[in-house]
Amino acid sequence: MCREGGCGVCIVHAAVPTGNGKFQERSINSCLCPILSCDGWEITTVEGLGDQKNPHPIQKQLTEHSGSQCGYCTPGMVMTMYSTIRKEGKSLTATQAESALDGNICRCTGYRPILDAFKEFTNESASPACDIEDVSKRICSKTGKQCNGVCDDNGSNYFRPLVEVARAAARPWYRPTSLADLYKLLESSTLKNPYYVCGHTGIGVYDDGPYDGFISLRGIREMFVTDKKDGVITIGSGVSLTDMIDFFKSEAQTDPGFAHLEHFARLISKTAHPAVRNAGSWGGNLAMRNRHKEFPSDTFIALVMCDASVFVGPDEKSYTPEEFVNLDLKNKIVTKLTLKQFDKSHVFRTFKIMPRSANSHAYVNAGFRAKLLNEGNQLVIVDRPVLAYGNIAEEFIRASNTEEFLIGKNLADNDTFQRALTTLAQEIQPAEDKSEASPAYKRALAVNLFYKFGLQALDLHSLVDLKYKSAITSFDEERPVSKGTQSYPTVEKNWPVTKPIPKLESVVQCTGEARYISDIEQEGLLHAAFALCLHGPGKIVSIDTSRAMAVPGVVRVLTAKDIPGVNSFSGCLPSEKDEELLASDECLYFEQPVAVIVAVSKTIAEEAAKLVKVECKDVRPAVVSCKEAVVREAFYESPEDLVVGDVDKAFQKAKNKVMGEFEIGTQAHFHMETQVCVVIPTEDGLNAEAGTQWIDHTQDCMAKVTGLNKNAINVSVKRNGGGFGAKITRNNIISAACALAAYVTRRPVKMHTSLWDNMKVIGKRLANYVKYEVGFDENGKLEGIKINFYANNGIAANDSPFGEIKKWIDSGYKCPSWKLSMKCCKTNIPANTWCRAPGSTEAIYTIEHIMEHVAHYLQKPPIEVKQLNYYNDGDKVLDGSKLHKPTLKEITKQLLDSSEYDKRVQAAREFNTTNRWKKRGLTIVPMRYGVAWNGFNYSCLIAIFRNGGYVAVVHGGIEIGQGVNTKVAQCVAAELGIDMKYIMIQSTQAIITANNMTTGGSVTSELACMAAIQCAKKLMEVINPIKKKQQDGAEWGAIVEACYDAGVDLTARYWHVPASPDTIQYSTYGATVTEVEIDVLTGEHQINRVDVLYDCGESLSPIIDIGQVEGAIIMGLGYYTSEEVIYDEGTGQNLTPSTWKYKPPLARDIPLEWNVKLLHDAPNPLGVLRSKVSAEPPLDMSCSVVFAIRDAISASHAEWATRRLGLIWFVQ
Ligand SMILES: Cc1cc2nc3c(=O)[nH]c(=O)nc-3n(C[C@H](O)[C@H](O)[C@H](O)COP(=O)(O)OP(=O)(O)OC[C@H]3O[C@@H](n4cnc5c(N)ncnc54)[C@H](O)[C@@H]3O)c2cc1C
Ligand code: FES
Ligand code: FES
Repeated sequence: MCREGGCGVCIVHAAVPTGNGKFQERSINSCLCPILSCDGWEITTVEGLGDQKNPHPIQKQLTEHSGSQCGYCTPGMVMTMYSTIRKEGKSLTATQAESALDGNICRCTGYRPILDAFKEFTNESASPACDIEDVSKRICSKTGKQCNGVCDDNGSNYFRPLVEVARAAARPWYRPTSLADLYKLLESSTLKNPYYVCGHTGIGVYDDGPYDGFISLRGIREMFVTDKKDGVITIGSGVSLTDMIDFFKSEAQTDPGFAHLEHFARLISKTAHPAVRNAGSWGGNLAMRNRHKEFPSDTFIALVMCDASVFVGPDEKSYTPEEFVNLDLKNKIVTKLTLKQFDKSHVFRTFKIMPRSANSHAYVNAGFRAKLLNEGNQLVIVDRPVLAYGNIAEEFIRASNTEEFLIGKNLADNDTFQRALTTLAQEIQPAEDKSEASPAYKRALAVNLFYKFGLQALDLHSLVDLKYKSAITSFDEERPVSKGTQSYPTVEKNWPVTKPIPKLESVVQCTGEARYISDIEQEGLLHAAFALCLHGPGKIVSIDTSRAMAVPGVVRVLTAKDIPGVNSFSGCLPSEKDEELLASDECLYFEQPVAVIVAVSKTIAEEAAKLVKVECKDVRPAVVSCKEAVVREAFYESPEDLVVGDVDKAFQKAKNKVMGEFEIGTQAHFHMETQVCVVIPTEDGLNAEAGTQWIDHTQDCMAKVTGLNKNAINVSVKRNGGGFGAKITRNNIISAACALAAYVTRRPVKMHTSLWDNMKVIGKRLANYVKYEVGFDENGKLEGIKINFYANNGIAANDSPFGEIKKWIDSGYKCPSWKLSMKCCKTNIPANTWCRAPGSTEAIYTIEHIMEHVAHYLQKPPIEVKQLNYYNDGDKVLDGSKLHKPTLKEITKQLLDSSEYDKRVQAAREFNTTNRWKKRGLTIVPMRYGVAWNGFNYSCLIAIFRNGGYVAVVHGGIEIGQGVNTKVAQCVAAELGIDMKYIMIQSTQAIITANNMTTGGSVTSELACMAAIQCAKKLMEVINPIKKKQQDGAEWGAIVEACYDAGVDLTARYWHVPASPDTIQYSTYGATVTEVEIDVLTGEHQINRVDVLYDCGESLSPIIDIGQVEGAIIMGLGYYTSEEVIYDEGTGQNLTPSTWKYKPPLARDIPLEWNVKLLHDAPNPLGVLRSKVSAEPPLDMSCSVVFAIRDAISASHAEWATRRLGLIWFVQ
């Protein structure tokens, strides 16, 4: 999906010949691997392991553990597991299994079920899933048995020679087999910018192309040597990072002179992730550092630390790493490095601090070395130490002044140590990079890392007080294996409803047979890509498409002038304003689409798109933040203020008042299948498969842009590879462009946006700027709340959650008077849109922030203040709806008990008093979430077929991973009184589910079920009279046959229009306790434990709902901790549009202990079959991580800062 090695969906297993008929087997990212470098390799993909009839044990385990939701990441997960198990065999530990997934992002599941499945194959599994030997074998699709390695069929998937056409299409590709050969080639070659291909993973970080040729280094044996002679280690430059780590670990254990290589290996183990390390070489990494001075290479830092010598051919001169980076590498090749021994008086340590657990470049990386002499209580630094840093500034490598200062100094002397830190703080001057962490943070980090190193050195000589030892350990090196529990109610008499079953599609998702729109290929298919305007907001003077049009393979270049209908991708809602599909007169944001390139391949379309030149005038600085929009009073039409009670009077009366303000940021949806659509022209219109969550809206926009009538356009959707709200209205940008291209060219067209364009063009979660005031009594009882919300809408305000915010802003808290003002801010970024739990995320964060502030002011435990204000049964909530049997009090009580909250608060306090540099914090966030469903109308069609009684269902919900198909199938089976095996859910189609509402707002699954239940009831009304005439126990097939014979129509359709008397149909509730531990010196955190209790009523499908809760919580944790979208304040450019910059959580970011429970015995009389919704509300509770981190920070402040700074409240 990302095509830069950053997401893992493309991972395959490769067996690479190493000579002597042997193979080295590894997982690799296929997106980074040029096809020509695979010559002679054996590649296994997910389809090669097993199929739905005979799934491989890994596929089976993942299915049984419900490890897939949208399923887009699943093939990559399966193949990573497969490769890891083949490599480690029976000795695979759970720790290894967890870190093996460092390069695989799953946006849906929260990772827990995936890890559980994987752990079944480790040596720690209580009941191993099967013999590990069996796991490492493939299942033959022909025999259904294990593959014996030889296939007598010439059509085998394996050992197929590379197709000649691939060779013909490629630019020159050379494969020298020795260094001598290579140098000869370089002498005679006219290549100006060749790519020396080793692992070819560097392309995932920098594209320095266009390359006029490729020289593969993989056949040069000298480059793959690992050797030790006379106390010197030599490693060829082609040796992969994985092999280097393995070699160093083994040397560190067996040769005391190389014990320090353990620290080298530790740092490189944090480079990228296993699949990149398997393919990528240290030589390639170092060459990248040479070409890009800002590249925070881990290898480079480790080499500096170890005083390595780097050898460069053809003349085989050796260089220090520092000399090497300034070398002109043109026509030069890194050939090897050598490492020397160090005696045990040397202390080493490496660090890498990053925004998430893995697969991230460093905020700052560092390598330290010092030779120390212990004389009594003195620890003297002899010789010049090494303090090497990465990612500070391009030319900054070593802290030379501090190194100089430290020579001969006693590290055990506090004054000296402090002076060293001051010197360091002076010489570390990080360069400003708007897309990176702030210089202030980097500088503090650099200093603190050295402090940690110093303490570690002192500790080796027992010179560190117990309390300070917490500086030495680091989370990543000590992280235990995660664990958790899941608990849910099920009502057996209602099965299959409430029965815990995996998703219907999970097998095909795990075997790779699930088909996504992005998979569609067909004869004559054209591909479309957007050309973007590379200016900030301004007037468009000209759009020059001639260079793009001249590219061979480009069929059309379409601009606004070519649109036969309306230049808009908006639908036809009365409240909706048109948003231009292609900017015509005015460019409103940096990288707004101005043209659609239609070409014979995706690559040609994307390359040609870069050649479109747009000239603009009157370009003005972009407004990117709410605060700036407020200053400029740049607002869209905004909702009326909501006023309840007499808020001014309440404030006059209130004994206590606090006020504050904060900003909360945006979030990219990061759905794994980027926006996609395929449109096929028909004789009378268009047939589309669109990656949309809202077929009706997409159909509208396609009709609008082409000028066709709506009935000439059919849109269907089998599944989306994740959506999270981004595909409610924003898929229209792609679908409208694709429809336009197909309509104009009369050819089938696919548009599957690159991740980069997806990040640049598609709006995101609305960021908010919030100001608040709250009045309360001496106990914290709320009296009045005033809130000013400013939301960053971007260039249009069509998708604004403000209309809904009153359903959530009060959460579970009663306050007699309110004033809520909302302003939609006009800014120059793409129009922001719905993103999982839109509006409620910001609303519930806001009220929790306020409640925590009140508690902080009164110096009371926050939960005490929160509970004091809980709503009671029958109360009217802020939006005027009446509460029916709220479960929040019960939930809070149960969760405080089951999470042992009080005991753990006490334990955290004790931990904090004994640990100076690590602090723990705990919090509980309770939540009420108002569920509104009026207007969410869905239809359902059920067809029962004679000859077996099999049932096909088409419903109006879109399967985006949330399990709507499974829930519908369960309900239909229950209503028809038949086994689930009879039911199949077919694609949603505009013609069958005309005029349906979007999938969103968490209510779709339940309401699609309601439509299906009513539809099934209709059928049973006509079936039952015939059924009664059959013998008792008659088979379903026979009953259906009898109905057919009796002329009964065995199809039915139902249109469900929910109608709540109040805006809120019911409320759902939950609470989450989060415990974190922070490293005060680095700002890192680890989530020690999360306990969630969520009221899902009588969950229709509890495993699916547990999955929804877990997935939502992790998406929220990402939002609050590691994910950051940054827009340039001058141009408005998105500076973080790649996986290199944008960091959703990974498997090792989840809580160490994670207990998720659905409230038992809580049927909801106001819900569908007594259930409650699950998809979005749990995300709102993930803000608990923020308050837990603050609690931990407060513990640190309490220890030192309060003495100087007074009692601190948080402004962000
Ligand atoms: C998703 C991802 C995450 C990453 N994260 C990190 C990270 O956290 N820290 C980090 O340090 N690195 C990181 N990297 C970079 C990674 O370590 C390098 O891509 C890898 O080591 C390069 O090795 P390669 O063999 O694939 O090089 P290639 O891609 O084959 O080559 C890279 C460049 O070096 C040149 N080159 C290759 N070999 C030689 C040679 N022997 N002599 C001269 N020039 C040569 C090539 O012409 C090309 O310009 C990441 C990469 C990816 C894709
Ligand atoms: S890692 Fe290959 S597509 Fe993302
Ligand atoms: S199931 Fe993993 S991304 Fe959707």
